[in-house]
Amino acid sequence: MPSILGISGSLRRQSFNTALLRAAVKAAPPGTTIEIGSIAGIPLYDGDVEAQGIPATVTALKQRVKACDGLLLVTPEYNNSIPGVFKNAIDWLSRPPSESKSVFGGRPVAVMGASPGGFGTILAQQAWLQVLRTLGTRPWFGARLQIAHADQVFDAQGELTDEKVRAQLADFIRGFSLAIGG
Ligand code: FNR
Repeated sequence: MPSILGISGSLRRQSFNTALLRAAVKAAPPGTTIEIGSIAGIPLYDGDVEAQGIPATVTALKQRVKACDGLLLVTPEYNNSIPGVFKNAIDWLSRPPSESKSVFGGRPVAVMGASPGGFGTILAQQAWLQVLRTLGTRPWFGARLQIAHADQVFDAQGELTDEKVRAQLADFIRGFSLAIGG
């Protein structure tokens, strides 16, 4: 009964990546649960703030990461890399260094993403690799999911309407789930 925690790297209400994560919840195979975590409310990283204590929003998300069998990062791409708000959230979760291992160490992580552009977040996904390596995670490389032309794949309500993408998403989630014990 693997449990996956999915986090979208966009704060936008009509985010394609958050829509993709919601679609992943529906695509999960029986016995696999995908919960949705959020980066909303996580402040900008500031060492002076950290010195006062880890913010409650960070601690709460950390607990959820620690409790999951697999972490699913759903990443937008900004300027061919990781959006700052998403990286900021993961940076916070890695603090303090003494606790980072319990949050990320050996944890299976899958990355997928959606973009209205033609390359489907390929470079943002690539950029995550060095972060995931540094954090000592166990990145899952069993499949890739880079949703290009996302504006043609989701409707105005954020529902996935493309059957081919739905099948790709289901395969992706099934593969990750199997890799973490589903
Ligand atoms: C973008 N976007 C973008 N898209 C892409 O495929 N490659 C890129 O390098 C960029 N660069 C970029 C920079 C900045 C600052 C912004 C705000 C946007 C477009 C991006 O994919 C689009 O805004 C998505 O809709 C963002 O994801 P969400 O919010 O829909 O999940």
